[in-house]
Amino acid sequence: MEQNRLLFKWIKEYQLGIQEFDEHHQKLVQLLNASFDAFAGNVHPQRLVTILDELFDYAVYHFSAEESWMDEHQYPRLAEHTALHDTFRAKLTELQQAQLMRSSELNAELFTFLADWLATHILESDAEYGIFVRENCNNKTDVYEE
Ligand SMILES: [Fe+2]
Ligand SMILES: [Fe+2]
Repeated sequence: MEQNRLLFKWIKEYQLGIQEFDEHHQKLVQLLNASFDAFAGNVHPQRLVTILDELFDYAVYHFSAEESWMDEHQYPRLAEHTALHDTFRAKLTELQQAQLMRSSELNAELFTFLADWLATHILESDAEYGIFVRENCNNKTDVYEE
């Protein structure tokens, strides 16, 4: 059996301390790794389409969950954060289209782009709303400490 190719290694530094979103992020990482593994392992194209669809749907679901949460908590950088999510959504669409068209544009760099983007986004932009909720929200039920 082919060994799993791990594109994105989860480490505890990625945790925000907000359980719902930490779980979302781990699931996103799993799906991204599974997509890359399917791509690199040259599985049946239909299998890759299915995984990419799942990744896309989950990313869309996660981003809108974050955006609604930010709106609810009156997070001041919501617009800026949403614009960042748009970049990822656009890149994922590109990846799905490349896959559908069996284009040579579906390459490892696209996956690396997504993995780098996601890592930086969680560590920098998502981490900021984690800090925000700790500092500004009286109702801390969202936040857990390690
Ligand atoms: Fe996120
Ligand atoms: Fe985000």
